[in-house]
Amino acid sequence: MASIKIENVQKAFGKVVAVDQLNLEINDGEFFTFLGPSGCGKTTTLRMIAGFYYPTKGVVRFGDKDMTRVPPEKRNTGMVFQNYALFPHMTVFENVAYGLRVRKVGSAALKARVQEVLRKVRLDQYSGRQVSQLSGGQQQRVALARALVIEPEILLLDEPLSNLDAKLRDEMRSEILRLQKEYKITTIYVTHDQAEALSMSDRIAVFNFGVCHQVGTPSEIYNEPANDFVAGFIGEINLLPVEIDKIENEQVTVSARTGANTKKLVVHNHPFNFKPEGKGAVSLSIRPESIKLHSEAADRPNVFRGKVEEVEFFGSLVNVTVNLDGVLLQVNMLNNVKTNLQPGAEVWAELPKDQIRIIPVVSGEDV
Ligand SMILES: Nc1ncnc2c1ncn2[C@@H]1O[C@H](COP(=O)(O)OP(=O)(O)O)[C@@H](O)[C@H]1O
Ligand SMILES: [Mg+2]
Repeated sequence: MASIKIENVQKAFGKVVAVDQLNLEINDGEFFTFLGPSGCGKTTTLRMIAGFYYPTKGVVRFGDKDMTRVPPEKRNTGMVFQNYALFPHMTVFENVAYGLRVRKVGSAALKARVQEVLRKVRLDQYSGRQVSQLSGGQQQRVALARALVIEPEILLLDEPLSNLDAKLRDEMRSEILRLQKEYKITTIYVTHDQAEALSMSDRIAVFNFGVCHQVGTPSEIYNEPANDFVAGFIGEINLLPVEIDKIENEQVTVSARTGANTKKLVVHNHPFNFKPEGKGAVSLSIRPESIKLHSEAADRPNVFRGKVEEVEFFGSLVNVTVNLDGVLLQVNMLNNVKTNLQPGAEVWAELPKDQIRIIPVVSGEDV
């Protein structure tokens, strides 16, 4: 069993609390991602799972086994570091063999295992080459092979693609997913890149300032963000501070201030919408692709007159900035040869009530 449980974990370095009150359960065989901006505690958490750091408080379990203070070499985790940490003057073979030599694996078995894993990462032709003579992508594969050769129960990848150019990143993304499926290995992947997290993961944990804000599948994180930090970090979002006027079974009525005006909106009462009896400010959130633009007024709720401020043409996509009494809305639409919006044009923006979420505002709070 290689499920992982993190129970009430805190890690402090002197006065700096790098990770706080962390609770996570990662399932056997899962591809789980830690996502968040630089300095939010991703590497620190990964290192507590690998055993390179021990938590200040809390418990780390693999299955039901308490691993909190077990040293790294007794954990059976394979780690790929952000800077690869390879031995540059050793050959590919020796770099990969290193972990097996430390574990005193006999030479015939060692050779067979190194060759097999080099074949898996498609480096069998390079076994005698010095690591310093390899490209960045090839070095990345050596680092992966070195982590996999010890047949770990858990694979830990710390921003493994951040040093590669865009094309290689795409290639290595597929490579990592292929290997993860082949080995059926519980994997934790660390990244600050939301596109990478959304496209690769079974589930994602979103971090900021040492706190985990939400755990969910890519579609839950994107479509049902827990608060304005998660909504803003994953993809583009329109956020409008609102006050809640009325809550009925089916719908919620809210007021948004735009310039000197107040606009009334109706919002479908989603079960996951923020419970407004909780404390604090709330925001209306809607994704740019969910807003519809019309050339005429419509007698429906949530349709507001505005002015096109800016049009960015990306080919298949067109991004339009619409000004509603001084509030700027981002609208993304698919290209349509018949739509030829120009700055200055009058438009009616529709915010469909089932596409709106009301979420708590945590940015600016000391969380
Ligand atoms: N060894 C350390 N000593 C002191 N502070 C540290 C140490 N490692 C990390 N930190 C601090 O802990 C916080 C989280 O760091 P880290 O886990 O490396 O973030 P991330 O990997 O998300 O960029 C940061 O404020 C960082 O400066
Ligand atoms: Mg890091």
